[in-house]
Amino acid sequence: MLNFHSTLHILEGIFTLTLAILLGLPAVNGAANNLTQVAASSFSPNPTNVGFYLYVPSTLQAKPPVLVNPHWCHGSAQDAFAGTQLATLADAYGYIMIFPDSPNTADKCWDVSSNQTLTHNGGGDSQGIVSMVNYVLQNYNADPARVFSMGTSSGAMMTNVLLGSYPDVFAAGSAWAGVAFGCFAGNGYDVWSNDCATGKIIKSGAQWEAIVKAAYPSYTGFRPKMQVFHGTVDTTLYPQNLVEEIKEWTAVLGLPSTPVQTLSNYPDSAWTTYVYGDTFHATNATGVTHNIQTNESVALPFSEQALKFLFVVLK
Ligand SMILES: *[C@@H]1O[C@H](CO)[C@@H](O)[C@H](O)[C@H]1NC(C)=O
Ligand SMILES: *[C@@H]1O[C@H](CO)[C@@H](O)[C@H](O)[C@H]1NC(C)=O
Ligand SMILES: *[C@@H]1O[C@H](CO)[C@@H](O)[C@H](O)[C@H]1NC(C)=O
Ligand SMILES: *[C@@H]1O[C@H](CO)[C@@H](O)[C@H](O)[C@H]1NC(C)=O
Repeated sequence: MLNFHSTLHILEGIFTLTLAILLGLPAVNGAANNLTQVAASSFSPNPTNVGFYLYVPSTLQAKPPVLVNPHWCHGSAQDAFAGTQLATLADAYGYIMIFPDSPNTADKCWDVSSNQTLTHNGGGDSQGIVSMVNYVLQNYNADPARVFSMGTSSGAMMTNVLLGSYPDVFAAGSAWAGVAFGCFAGNGYDVWSNDCATGKIIKSGAQWEAIVKAAYPSYTGFRPKMQVFHGTVDTTLYPQNLVEEIKEWTAVLGLPSTPVQTLSNYPDSAWTTYVYGDTFHATNATGVTHNIQTNESVALPFSEQALKFLFVVLK
């Protein structure tokens, strides 16, 4: 027997389906196409055997930007693809997405601890992901000046790692509930740092800057823009990690250690965004746990400002 609510749900379902048919959209996560896996034999080096999944919209910009979206621990490329609106937005704006898949089957976290991953061209998961970027640049005539990374949790930690180890590859990053580059540094591959997670790794800006620069000592070029977000009641990666990310990236980017502007209730109410300069923003999300909701509508324009053009214009 149908009650009022189930009738509503059926009507809603029919409406969504009709809309999907009219607009030619799939009913699942809003993205028009599926992920495709790129064979391991097609790109290298990939010393840790990171899985390579690609999202290519039907209509691309002439020289498309590339957005890497590393998943969270216990997640997968498919989960990341389904978990945000980024692929749907790729359909609208014509950028290509890389969804790397962690080879660490035990916990599906990214290797953000090994010396390899924390060293430019040193190996580790970060190098495999950069090989994917190079594959896309070569095979899709993508724009090497518009390569970005955005991720949550372990994906945010990997975003910090990618920007630190490969400042020559990435133009900007957006890290949601992560930790500073090098905070998880440990003796080995995919090692969990309880000290970092619980906010006990505390360094000065100069110390963090030295750690980032040691990843690629000969490099003196462009440093990518960064935006970081963290919840004030995150009990997985303690909020101290926001403080450490702020010290790290303001030092690396040569910005003042105190904000030049404070945006209250931005991007959401009870969230405070501190602007340290055009190249670094940090958002303190009051009352938010580790399960922070990403906001594509602030992450994509931030990347756009990085280079004064990018994702066309958000409608
Ligand atoms: C995506 O994959 C699903 C499941 O395999 C399939 O039903 C659907 O037709 C695919 N869509 C496209 C656009 O290829
Ligand atoms: C990390 O690796 C680099 C290059 O592979 C090497 O020069 C450096 O000594 C290593 N550092 C540590 C702490 O093992
Ligand atoms: C974030 O806000 C909390 C209060 O809700 C405060 O204790 C903390 O110091 C703030 N963090 C930063 C980096 O401003
Ligand atoms: C994302 O940020 C915009 C801009 O501040 C805001 O209007 C919107 O509500 C936010 N969306 C989510 C899902 O938090």
